[in-house]
Amino acid sequence: MNDPAFNLLLPFIQDAPAHTLWLADENLLRSQIAPRSNIHMIANRLDLVQSAQERGWQADWSDFDLSGIPAGSVTRVIYRVSKEKALVHHNINQALRVLKIGGQLILSGDKGEGIKGYLDRTRVLFAGRAETEKASANCWRGIFTRPEQPGSPLDDRDYSQLRQACADEHFRYWSKPGVFGWDKIDRGSAFLIQQLDTFVAELQAPPRRILDLGCGYGYLSVQAARLGAPITATDNNAAAIAACQRNFAELGILGEVIPASCGAGIDGPFELILCNPPFHAGFSVEDDLTERFLSAAARLLDRNGIAAFVVNRQIMLERRAASRFRRIQTLAEDGSFKLVLLADAKTGA
Ligand SMILES: C[S@@+](CC[C@H](N)C(=O)[O-])C[C@H]1O[C@@H](n2cnc3c(N)ncnc32)[C@H](O)[C@@H]1O
Repeated sequence: MNDPAFNLLLPFIQDAPAHTLWLADENLLRSQIAPRSNIHMIANRLDLVQSAQERGWQADWSDFDLSGIPAGSVTRVIYRVSKEKALVHHNINQALRVLKIGGQLILSGDKGEGIKGYLDRTRVLFAGRAETEKASANCWRGIFTRPEQPGSPLDDRDYSQLRQACADEHFRYWSKPGVFGWDKIDRGSAFLIQQLDTFVAELQAPPRRILDLGCGYGYLSVQAARLGAPITATDNNAAAIAACQRNFAELGILGEVIPASCGAGIDGPFELILCNPPFHAGFSVEDDLTERFLSAAARLLDRNGIAAFVVNRQIMLERRAASRFRRIQTLAEDGSFKLVLLADAKTGA
């Protein structure tokens, strides 16, 4: 992936001074920058942190929780803005807190992501000690120096706190910014649940174990809990894991919530796998991620089990699944989504 906004940060990574902090968003995923011992990386995606650690980086997985870093201890913070405003404001406020006086925050981003607004607000927060630059038609970078007397914090909508974010007629769901679709019920997931009883009826016996693959705040798990089987919910995003754990605790859901990338390290078999995978039309379609979700489902599905995937109608999931499953059935479709049932996994697929 070539990300011009991220490339604007590269010189600041190359010449990073001691005690540099890199708040790494998903743009890092495909970059192969050599590790630097003077940079501490924090990211909220487990796959990203694990691949960085494998390459020798000092990297920690958290929901951008910088509370363990003493105030005024960091020389430079590097950050390519994330997609979600509350998270960007949280990270900018935290950067200000951990930077020593005279330390620098380097920000970059794209016009479509609102980088100009972020640069303007950060300029006020850093009491005007800012150099901003339009690097290309759409990309901007800002260098901010930590003043002695900063302005008021940016509104981060209380980013770190879980809250009751949405509800349906039966449940209130705990969630927070930083989780996929955090304050609503995803229409695709609701579509899957509408068909739940239909495809569960196809199982030879009630499921003994259920897997929610890419669980987010846990909507599918909460809905499937009525089937009575323990549920394993898994996601790679730190905010999602925290929210899902809270919903399991608050709603008394039987099972466990496990941080993992594409179910890695989780043991099957599961008679039922529910999945609203993270590849949507309009979002960057990550082919490799599609393969990894399908491969996880094939590995973890019981011989007599069913994996139910809900995807945007345009996604050719059936074709992609053909190398891994013998039975592929599009059970239901509406104007936006389709529900694809996968069963009888090919061994070694
Ligand atoms: C479309 S959302 C569905 C969330 C949830 N199941 C729901 O119904 O609201 C896809 C989920 O996959 C997660 N995800 C993305 N990449 C992942 C990976 N490599 N491993 C595990 N989960 C991942 C995202 O964090 C997100 O929560």
